[in-house]
Amino acid sequence: MSVEIVRDLRGLHSSIARYRNGPLNTAASLAIVPTMGAIHEAHEKLIIEAKRNANIVLATIFVNPMQFGENEDFNKYPKSEEEDIKRLSDVGCDIIYIPTIENIYPEGFDLTINVPKLSSVLCGKKRPNHFEGVSTIVAKLLLQSGADYAVFGEKDYQQLLIIKSLVKNLDIPCQILPIETIRDTNGLAISSRNKYLNAASKVIANNINKIMKSAINQYKKTDIQTTIKFVESNLLSVGIENIDYIEIRDNNNLSVIDNNDKSNARLFIAVYIENTRLIDNIKL
Ligand code: PAF
Repeated sequence: MSVEIVRDLRGLHSSIARYRNGPLNTAASLAIVPTMGAIHEAHEKLIIEAKRNANIVLATIFVNPMQFGENEDFNKYPKSEEEDIKRLSDVGCDIIYIPTIENIYPEGFDLTINVPKLSSVLCGKKRPNHFEGVSTIVAKLLLQSGADYAVFGEKDYQQLLIIKSLVKNLDIPCQILPIETIRDTNGLAISSRNKYLNAASKVIANNINKIMKSAINQYKKTDIQTTIKFVESNLLSVGIENIDYIEIRDNNNLSVIDNNDKSNARLFIAVYIENTRLIDNIKL
């Protein structure tokens, strides 16, 4: 069957029912891959992982206004629907849900989902309400689709922990499948926002992963504060001066850790190169 494109909730439900009852059967499992479009190689890996785990793969494309701050890039977020559909179907996606704003936030919509502790640190501190927007859209998409599995990348590690927590706390019967960060040949974490980088900025950005990798050794030999200083001075030395944060936190719950516990540490960074905000993380 070729890919089915659906643009409203009724279409989504009948397409899923057709798959579950038609070529497959009611026992067929469904995996969802939520995206904001601008499909790239990392999204394709998410689809492949979805396909490995479930019989039916559903991708969603929705640039969610609720997760963007006032001065952020909602209006210029890259859009490439036709190409997105081709890439998603080439990699084996069965259904693509491209809802309108009214299908997600109908008139009178009045709800936000908040996972307060996990959302209050790192990007949550820098982007107020961002994770409420993410939590609300993800909960809606999981409930609208009734997916058995949902696949998310570790590049957005804080988002991944928040989604795991929301699914657990709301008893949503959906298993979250993480996949490791997909990087280009220079180690740069693949992201839709990389499209904003010009050639010179890209050369600078290519240093981020190398610096983060060298932090692993530094942390083994020293401590949190020294490692953070090490990362900071290395970022500055390659011309990354606008540093939003560099933090080392617990890998499982993002809490502050002390220097005696080296087993659960993860390094998180957010930087601006020109006006483009890039994030990355690595297990230390
Ligand atoms: O990671 C993203 O692309 C978005 O935050 C998500 C999960 C699709 C929700 O809009």
